[in-house]
Amino acid sequence: MKVLAILGAGNKTRNTATMLRSAFDGAMSVPGAEGELLSLFDLTFKGCVGCHACKLLDEKHFARCALKDDLTPVLAKAIEADVILIGSPMYFNDVTGATRSFLERLFFPAITYNKDRTPTYPKRARVGWVFTMNAPGDFYTEFFKGLVGSTSWIIGDAEYAIAYGTQQFEDYSKYAATMFDVETVKRRHLEQFPEDCKTAFEMGKRLAETIGGGTHA
Ligand SMILES: Cc1cc2nc3c(=O)[nH]c(=O)nc-3n(C[C@H](O)[C@H](O)[C@H](O)COP(=O)(O)O)c2cc1C
Repeated sequence: MKVLAILGAGNKTRNTATMLRSAFDGAMSVPGAEGELLSLFDLTFKGCVGCHACKLLDEKHFARCALKDDLTPVLAKAIEADVILIGSPMYFNDVTGATRSFLERLFFPAITYNKDRTPTYPKRARVGWVFTMNAPGDFYTEFFKGLVGSTSWIIGDAEYAIAYGTQQFEDYSKYAATMFDVETVKRRHLEQFPEDCKTAFEMGKRLAETIGGGTHA
């Protein structure tokens, strides 16, 4: 059973990376799991360029992204993976640009404009999303549900774990950031964030344990 964790945050040690690592550790704790955790920020790649090669009938790229760059082998690994874990901080009410570009390249080849809209993703995988953010816990629920819904439709059953009100700076007094209640943020980081990481660990473990296989009808 193959696990692929994809970090869509620029920093490799802060909230999103830590929580994604927990989800990855959870999946890897299941016997038979083999996996890899990689960072999109180590790669040079574009979002979808709209070439439509992935929709061209009788074309060698049908249902595959034809663009060749650093993301090409990652997309191949994603298609092989049984469990895909994706971590992104919220940037301007969305996932990061790198995560968005990755999604465009993963999702668009896996759907058609055919009437039946059956996805062409070659297998059913399990997907776990990890989102971190400053905003309150219920602020992006509709966004998360929408993204997880699209992921479930295209790739396979998906779920998500969040950390909110995250700590961004060690010393808030050194930054232009007076809107935060520093004590609350720091306490959350000490007390709640480890719990959020445990939730992510359990999600990763659960996803790896429930691999059912199967293909689209
Ligand atoms: C460019 C940028 C945009 C952000 N936009 C939002 C936002 O729209 N909503 C939000 O809740 N937090 C926003 N944040 C805060 C981050 O999502 C939050 O601090 C997150 O936990 C950072 O993840 P990291 O610690 O892994 O870097 C933003 C941060 C940055 C750097």
